[in-house]
Amino acid sequence: MKILVTGGTGYIGSHTVVELQQQGFEVVIVDNLSNSQASVVDAIGRITGKRPSLEVFDLVDRDKTDDFFRRHNDIQGVIHFAAYKAVGESVANPLLYYRNNLVSLMNILESMATYQIENLVFSSSCTVYGQPDEPPVSETAPIKKAESPYGNTKQISEEIIQDTLKSTSLKAIALRYFNPIGAHESALIGELPLGIPNNLVPFITQTAIGIRQQLSVFGDDYNTPDGTAIRDYIHVVDLAKAHVVAVKRMIENRMKHHFEVFNLGTGNGYSVLDVIKSFEKVSGRKLNYVIVGRRPGDVEKVWADPSLSNRELGWKALKNLDEMNASAWKWEQYYRSKE
Ligand code: UD1
Repeated sequence: MKILVTGGTGYIGSHTVVELQQQGFEVVIVDNLSNSQASVVDAIGRITGKRPSLEVFDLVDRDKTDDFFRRHNDIQGVIHFAAYKAVGESVANPLLYYRNNLVSLMNILESMATYQIENLVFSSSCTVYGQPDEPPVSETAPIKKAESPYGNTKQISEEIIQDTLKSTSLKAIALRYFNPIGAHESALIGELPLGIPNNLVPFITQTAIGIRQQLSVFGDDYNTPDGTAIRDYIHVVDLAKAHVVAVKRMIENRMKHHFEVFNLGTGNGYSVLDVIKSFEKVSGRKLNYVIVGRRPGDVEKVWADPSLSNRELGWKALKNLDEMNASAWKWEQYYRSKE
């Protein structure tokens, strides 16, 4: 069973490749290495005993994409992670985001139709819900107008997929991620943002290790118990495992509709200060942080209702916040010790 993982050297992609290989799948990665390193495939090989194959090209290139699928027309399914994901950057450079995230998806869909590859798992995001009226948010919650071009690319991508499968034999599962954090227990792979991290946990671990001076907590005047914003943090390995379940569901013809959507979260909301306290507990380090103003575009509180995924996929996130932080910290320490 051969699976194409686009963006497979990235953060969520690499953890998913490990889980797929450990479940017996053969994996081919396509990645343009715009935000990751080729050496990730060696690290994956050290974990699983099998180095996945990697082809480096840009899926925005129609001809190269078609050529790839022509050579790999025995692929059983595609997990499409490859995309840009920095909210602020998407506001500053929207066309970069629309071109990259949408053209690559369209190229993949066209090639899948040409070579009769029917199964697609798509990386979506809880950002499609915006600020939900009443968390927890289930899959039937209304899609709110996107706060950023990045968020809009996820909404439009889901629509492009739905329209495409009306006229082809394509089946698709969109997985709406909440906030993935943490790293593989081996500490051989993890999140490796280039430059200054946008996301909370990489900023925390880089501050703790001394690469960053101070963490800024964006706002303590939200309508939440401690005033800081609430998110549903999920361990990246729990998230990765859900992709294997989704692929099997498609290949084994257990889908109930040609397009299915599942939330991937724990169902627990934690504030920024909760995350900091948990990190300080598991690392034994005091974190240097300061409260500053809100970050534009941030929602106040969002966490998942994961009951549909729990029931339909038979999947459940198992790791708690302390385990997530401990694994992120172990990865940061291990990675920096090699530098
Ligand atoms: C954002 C996107 C999400 C996207 C994800 C991927 C929104 C609403 N969400 O998640 O769709 O998939 O990025 O990159 O656009 N925080 C601090 N200090 C920091 C960094 C973050 O206080 O230095 C706070 C934020 O204000 C937020 C929480 O930590 O309350 C989590 O932030 P972050 O890790 O950036 O994720 P989201 O913004 O939730």
